[in-house]
Amino acid sequence: MLNPVILSVGVAAMAVFYYFQSRNASVPFQIEKILLQSFKDYKKNGWPYDVYGPISHSHRNMPRSGQPLGWIIVDTIDTLMLGYNYTTNKSNKKEFLEQIQFVENWVENDLDYNMDSEVNIFETTIRMLGGLLSGYYLSTDLNIGNPEVYLNKAIDLADRLSLSFANSPSGIPYSSVNLRTGEAIKNHVDNGASSTAEFTTLQLEFKYLASITGNKTYWKLAEQVYEPLYKVNNILEQYDGLVPIYTLPDTAQFWGRNIRFGSRGDSFYEYLLKQYLLTHEGIYYDLYRAAINGMKKHLVKESFPSGLTYIAEKPNGLEYQASSKMDHLVCFMGGLLAMGATEGHTIKTARNMNFWDEDREDDWLLAMKLTHTCYQMYHQLPAGLSPEIVVFNYPEEQRNEFEEITQLDRQNWWNSPSGDFFVKPLDGHNLQRPETVESIMFMYHLSNDTTYREWGEEILNNFAEHTAIKGNGIVEAYTSLNDCLHVPTGKKDNMESFWLAETLKYLYLLFQDDIDLTEIVFNTEAHPFPVLEIADMEKSNLTTGWGLK
Ligand SMILES: *[C@@H]1O[C@H](CO)[C@@H](O)[C@H](O)[C@H]1NC(C)=O
Ligand SMILES: *[C@@H]1O[C@H](CO)[C@@H](O)[C@H](O)[C@H]1NC(C)=O
Ligand SMILES: *[C@@H]1O[C@H](CO)[C@@H](O)[C@H](O)[C@H]1NC(C)=O
Ligand SMILES: *[C@@H]1O[C@H](CO)[C@@H](O)[C@H](O)[C@H]1NC(C)=O
Ligand SMILES: *[C@@H]1O[C@H](CO)[C@@H](O)[C@H](O)[C@H]1NC(C)=O
Ligand SMILES: *[C@@H]1O[C@H](CO)[C@@H](O)[C@H](O)[C@H]1NC(C)=O
Repeated sequence: MLNPVILSVGVAAMAVFYYFQSRNASVPFQIEKILLQSFKDYKKNGWPYDVYGPISHSHRNMPRSGQPLGWIIVDTIDTLMLGYNYTTNKSNKKEFLEQIQFVENWVENDLDYNMDSEVNIFETTIRMLGGLLSGYYLSTDLNIGNPEVYLNKAIDLADRLSLSFANSPSGIPYSSVNLRTGEAIKNHVDNGASSTAEFTTLQLEFKYLASITGNKTYWKLAEQVYEPLYKVNNILEQYDGLVPIYTLPDTAQFWGRNIRFGSRGDSFYEYLLKQYLLTHEGIYYDLYRAAINGMKKHLVKESFPSGLTYIAEKPNGLEYQASSKMDHLVCFMGGLLAMGATEGHTIKTARNMNFWDEDREDDWLLAMKLTHTCYQMYHQLPAGLSPEIVVFNYPEEQRNEFEEITQLDRQNWWNSPSGDFFVKPLDGHNLQRPETVESIMFMYHLSNDTTYREWGEEILNNFAEHTAIKGNGIVEAYTSLNDCLHVPTGKKDNMESFWLAETLKYLYLLFQDDIDLTEIVFNTEAHPFPVLEIADMEKSNLTTGWGLK
């Protein structure tokens, strides 16, 4: 006879199993619902404006000319297409298709980049050019709509953005361009310096477009920024592969000494690796390797008391004190390090491949630790949502290595329950940013460890609960927060385009089983491009045209 204890344990285990099964199955459906809700609310109350407040339904366009760039619309196309591809619900599939057709029609007939307005080349490239290119890729791959609509618009936009390179003696583009006149315009502040991460975050888009069109000019323009940057500043010797966050475009010289993986620095590192993943050009892996080794040497620190691993800043140069502050933006690094280690293979497979070495093993372990830290930046907060910036606590015996956190700071700042980090009152906002769920998505698919899905589900539920806007008790839309340090959270009346382009997309892909990360590369705005075929590159003579020797 069966032992009753074993039997009841067995029944309980099965109940738990079925509970998780059904809960798991419903998560992607919950994300589809949030995505469609957010998009349809925008369509009803904000269309086709670039900036939208879901509480007041206020809206405006960004360009001076008053015309729309398609900021939210173009950024969202591929998320809708992925929803269409993966949904298992017939009514949602139909819904996604309707939205895609509506958007495509607008892009074809109403979106006009011939506008007398100055735009930032980086933001416009990653969001608009990136969105159009992945729209082209997915509409081709999934056989929905007309890919040429996206491609033609992408070419038109890229040709306008290309003019930002025209007048720079060094080859580094100015930070803005007038889309109609082609006038290239330097940054109006910071002594005219461009953010280093801005002109080094155009390469995936321009290179993918070069491979589709066979037009090598896009490739060469994007590539030409690196040689002056590396040689003029002697980055490998003087900076251990790292870069200050500003560069003077005329001379390629760095301006200031502030080194960080947060804003203005972040995607410089990201695009070194991702160019290698997209095009297999070896030089970019080498530059990435140098940067990561420099990062480990100078910036990777552990908090007190729990030893959470994070990436510190060096505001005054590598030889001076660190700042223990970390932007939420830095949380993409877990996923990046994991992709750099495995090149998109699962960790099990990657460890058996020829390229595996100690550096990659160390990168993988660091990826796990950083992703865990970023999860803690959600988990320890009252609403379970991360603030924009945290400041990590350091052990007393290391205090000379860090910018001081005073007794008064400790009293005035928000303290995490574990004591490992603080939040300054002005940094307690949450813009529904993607970087942590991005890393969680990569870590899950590369490790096959369900812990990451549990973290993702927890974060999803917190967004669903604490960023929702309700009318008559019914959820109507989702918005950014100006205060995530208290419950109820303070709502901000702005929906960032990356809520739809990135955060919901990465959450959605986290819960799909059929993701092959060796075949696609996401640009820094989560727009997926297919890994380039060597044969296509050779046909158009798309090869690396520079070296450090
Ligand atoms: C579409 O979904 C299928 C699984 O249903 C998947 O195998 C395929 O990779 C997806 N395609 C894209 C482009 O995401
Ligand atoms: C499909 O989704 C719709 C809402 O979009 C829902 O009403 C319906 O119950 C779902 N069908 C199934 C079979 O889950
Ligand atoms: C290739 O791209 C450049 C840069 O935008 C453009 O000026 C040129 O006209 C393009 N060439 C062709 C053949 O389309
Ligand atoms: C992932 O883990 C599950 C068990 O949780 C297992 O069934 C599956 O085969 C694993 N997949 C891979 C690719 O290792
Ligand atoms: C999904 O189901 C598995 C068991 O089938 C469970 O271990 C896991 O915690 C569930 N939840 C998530 C978010 O993966
Ligand atoms: C390919 O590019 C290289 C370097 O720019 C150049 O020397 C060579 O002539 C080109 N070949 C073709 C077939 O265009």
